[in-house]
Amino acid sequence: MKVEVVLTEADILQELTEAIEARDLPEKYFYCFPSSAAEWTALTRDTEVYGGLRETWNQLAAGAPALAQYFGKRVPLISFGSGDGSRDRMLMSALKDAGCECTYFPVDASISLLETACAGAEDDDIEGTGIKADISSPVHLVYAADAAEPPRLFVMSGNTLGAFDPLAEIRYVSQCMKPGDRLIIDGEAYDEQKTIARRANPASRRFVWTLLSNLGIRPDDGDVRFEHKRDDRHDGLHLITRHFHAARDLSLLVGGHETALARGERLGLNFVYCYTDDAFRWLLCEHGGLDIITSRTSSDGRFFTAICKK
Ligand SMILES: C[S@@+](CC[C@H](N)C(=O)[O-])C[C@H]1O[C@@H](n2cnc3c(N)ncnc32)[C@H](O)[C@@H]1O
Repeated sequence: MKVEVVLTEADILQELTEAIEARDLPEKYFYCFPSSAAEWTALTRDTEVYGGLRETWNQLAAGAPALAQYFGKRVPLISFGSGDGSRDRMLMSALKDAGCECTYFPVDASISLLETACAGAEDDDIEGTGIKADISSPVHLVYAADAAEPPRLFVMSGNTLGAFDPLAEIRYVSQCMKPGDRLIIDGEAYDEQKTIARRANPASRRFVWTLLSNLGIRPDDGDVRFEHKRDDRHDGLHLITRHFHAARDLSLLVGGHETALARGERLGLNFVYCYTDDAFRWLLCEHGGLDIITSRTSSDGRFFTAICKK
């Protein structure tokens, strides 16, 4: 499978340097180092992390005959923030069994994860093109969406939406959709007791510390702290932020560029949105302009997954 590069490694390194200067590291940097991508892959196997979402995808795969009937012989699957593509492959394999020929377009900023997604599809004899792009950019999203003619099946899974401003991101995704397209998208339910605790577990901590160690930060240089905020733009939107708090003066090194981080300073890390059921529906429908065709909540109540149309 070939890979088209819209976001280069040089762009990522330049933006990472600027993000460190600005003390704010968005989601995409957490996967861009090969060691981070490997840690992420290990993390997704931890049942604590994605809980009942695996079962939801088994159910989606079981519903593949209905999707196959809708799409007919061909289904282009475009996955925004595909990761290693394992969820996409579950569905594509079921679609194939239902008589559809899938073409696959995983879209991700992480070259390591994109390579894994492409290699996995190749193993399954599925053709397509990996697209290395920034899914927070509306221009990159439209470019990736145009990889295939409608009707297309878009996927945004693993609470990928929640790592961006979901109000902006869902509109960008919606703008890419044409009548006939379908979108499978999920969001994580907010739980006052468990949402932060799950992110503070050893496996999730290892994932965060892998990025920090790639920047030259060691565990005794400080600690990672979490905060919960409500997003006042709509009831039921919960934002979990995390930051690294420096316990001593540090010097961070990326691509030969050194940045001083003084004792007591904070380095903002990636954040995640979680929702109430109503807020997630509002986000997709009223705010994003989508119609929900079907939706399900995972058996552990952690994830809402919807199949939507424009
Ligand atoms: C939470 S993981 C979900 C992966 C996969 N969809 C799943 O269900 O397991 C988010 C994925 O989005 C990618 N990602 C994060 N920010 C991105 C960005 N700005 N542009 C492109 N990909 C991004 C990451 O590299 C990662 O693979």
